[in-house]
Amino acid sequence: MSIQESDLGAETAAATALSHDFSNLSVRETEDRLESGVYPKREITIVRGEGAKLWDDTGREYVDCVGGQGSANLGHCNPYVVEAIEKQARTLLNCPEIFYNDTRAEVLKKLAEVSPPGMNRIFLCNSGTEAVEGALKFARLLTGKTDIIATVRGFHGRSMGALSATWEKKYRDPFYPLIPGFTHVPYNKIEAIREAITDKTAAVLIEPIQGEGGVHVPSDDFLPALRKLCDETGVLLILDEIQTGFCRTGKFWGGDHYGVKGDLMTVAKSIAGGIPMGAVLMDERFGPLDKSTHGSTFGGNPLTAAAAVAAIRYMQDYRLDQRSAELGEYFMGKLQPLAGKPGSVVREVRGKGLIIGLELKQKVVPYLKALMDRGVLALPAGPNVLRLLPPLVIEREQLDFAAEQIAAVLVG
Ligand SMILES: Cc1ncc(COP(=O)(O)O)c(C=O)c1O
Repeated sequence: MSIQESDLGAETAAATALSHDFSNLSVRETEDRLESGVYPKREITIVRGEGAKLWDDTGREYVDCVGGQGSANLGHCNPYVVEAIEKQARTLLNCPEIFYNDTRAEVLKKLAEVSPPGMNRIFLCNSGTEAVEGALKFARLLTGKTDIIATVRGFHGRSMGALSATWEKKYRDPFYPLIPGFTHVPYNKIEAIREAITDKTAAVLIEPIQGEGGVHVPSDDFLPALRKLCDETGVLLILDEIQTGFCRTGKFWGGDHYGVKGDLMTVAKSIAGGIPMGAVLMDERFGPLDKSTHGSTFGGNPLTAAAAVAAIRYMQDYRLDQRSAELGEYFMGKLQPLAGKPGSVVREVRGKGLIIGLELKQKVVPYLKALMDRGVLALPAGPNVLRLLPPLVIEREQLDFAAEQIAAVLVG
């Protein structure tokens, strides 16, 4: 007799068994019933992707301007990445960092090759928030100081350290107390940062272009002035390139537009062509960090490393930075005029390369649904900004189609 039958009785045991039988649930019922519930969902089931196209379970095709929330810069099922994963999966799937590994060494060299000069000390991890978490710890380790200056509307992730740097109230409020020592100052205001620096400040953590917070591009002199301020005060500059990196903005890094590099830099999203991975890149002057001060079981694992080597090689071979700049200008040329049109709900169009935000006079959510019905998938960035992050391999005709649908939905 099993434990259930003896303890609960046959009827209760049958009911218990039944409540664990989810085999008849549809895909959407399964996710609604079994997932944590933290994600707002859209009413489609995506089953396949190629380049900038996605298909749902009814066979309907969409032009993807969500781009895996920035993780699909290389397009869906990029052939370089798929081939590298297939090959590596047959060779070695995991290998903790306590051992040396050939594929990991390759990805470290690749990252060092494309990183701003001197950013050659690299910590490999698995996501954006984990990269930010690492950078915050390293900033404390390197300076012996505790405090971090972040920005109003900044987004850096949702684990406790990263969340303490993230500004949005609705992400933070349920989780107090957060980590002490974080202040938020207005973005693009150098004097506010100068005033916020104290003798406890370890670092300023900032996005070169704010993404999630509404696609805000700083003035040309802001980041150079911030670099100078950090140098003068001995405060570290952490550039969060998680959304702006890997060619998204029309240059390899967001900071390249301003000739600025951080002391530390956080990267993730498209680093491995759509496979989960993150990294902290540090200036080589920091040398090797003390042993065992940080770590991660899956950090630098060979499967993601192989995907990242292939992804970065693809970015280089196909000059995705240039492509993003050209296509961004083309797309912007079509979207910018929507702001002035009679009957338009567009207040302003902002962006660089293929990170574009359309600030609306209304809440964005109903427009996202209307666009989806017309075959275009897009993102919000705050309550009233429509954000477009298409794969950088998108074709001009697909941008034309997206721009037509956006105009139809946003201009009355
Ligand atoms: C600038 C920035 N930092 C950090 C993160 C967090 O990355 P992840 O969602 O991979 O944890 C994001 C995600 O959108 C981001 O845009």
